[in-house]
Amino acid sequence: MTTLTINLPQTSYPLTIEPGSADNVLNYYQTNNCFVMITDEGVPPSVVERIQKQLNPVTTITLPSGESTKSIETYHRIVATLLKQNISKTTTLVALGGGVIGDLTGFVASTYYRGINYIQIPTTLLSMVDSSIGGKTAINMQNVKNVVGTFHHPSAVIIDPNLLNTLPNRHIANGMAEVIKMALIGDADFAKALLNDIPIPTLIERAIRIKKQIVEKDPRDTHERHLLNHGHTIAHAIEALEPNLLHGECVAIGMKKMAKGELYETLLDDLLTKYDLTIQCTLKKDQLYNHILHDKKIKHDTLNIALIKNVGKGYIKSIKIEDIKSYL
Ligand code: GLY
Repeated sequence: MTTLTINLPQTSYPLTIEPGSADNVLNYYQTNNCFVMITDEGVPPSVVERIQKQLNPVTTITLPSGESTKSIETYHRIVATLLKQNISKTTTLVALGGGVIGDLTGFVASTYYRGINYIQIPTTLLSMVDSSIGGKTAINMQNVKNVVGTFHHPSAVIIDPNLLNTLPNRHIANGMAEVIKMALIGDADFAKALLNDIPIPTLIERAIRIKKQIVEKDPRDTHERHLLNHGHTIAHAIEALEPNLLHGECVAIGMKKMAKGELYETLLDDLLTKYDLTIQCTLKKDQLYNHILHDKKIKHDTLNIALIKNVGKGYIKSIKIEDIKSYL
């Protein structure tokens, strides 16, 4: 078993990576609080039932799957349910699902009675290695992703790699894009090791250790944490224009575009091939550029992008907005 502690100025919390941990949730999070579980229709009912049996939640809220669930309407629906059931401050919300459920549950937890506890039990590789760590919560509004949100850290993150056994290959590849990104920005040995088969729990742990280091240095996402956006400026534009692609698939395309002509491009190509992430992007430069112009991270006419100096060493560069065109 691996338990890491995410250490932040105001708080710290345990993150456990352990096959089978979803069968022993109370071993990793002890409380007298009662539980409300928030999940979605994409999580296998057998998994929902297993967690319900252990936690005996006052209620389980099951939402439709997909990004459109991360909305003000769903937020309203959840808060209305909590109020109807007289859910008090001494309740722990349980986010059982992928990034959408984690972000939304975190946002409810951060605002309900000005903040209550929540724990993350991520069920996708993408949420295990990325969104369940670091306390970013959000909902989307007016077609702008994550425009309303807070930093509110979970009280525990419980990662059971066995939950991935039923995840379709496309969703494993989706998470692998973020794993590759972590390796490129933070750990050269890991990036090279990824060319071989690594057991999933090890792979999750190594990716998380990189994110943990970055989040601990910059919990509020003001400088260092921007490294995690490697490939994401382009990815967000692709995601908006090609809604059928998954987030990680767009990140893979974004990373590939950022690597054009760089020494590490061959390594990236090999990794993208190994993990089934060689997705073609048919969007035109102008379409991508026009979308990037609306990116929320643009201040005045400059844009911070995360580049790779050498494998395992990312850095932030401020560029003029039109200079992004050379990567598109
Ligand atoms: N997913 C990027 C971050 O947590 O900052």
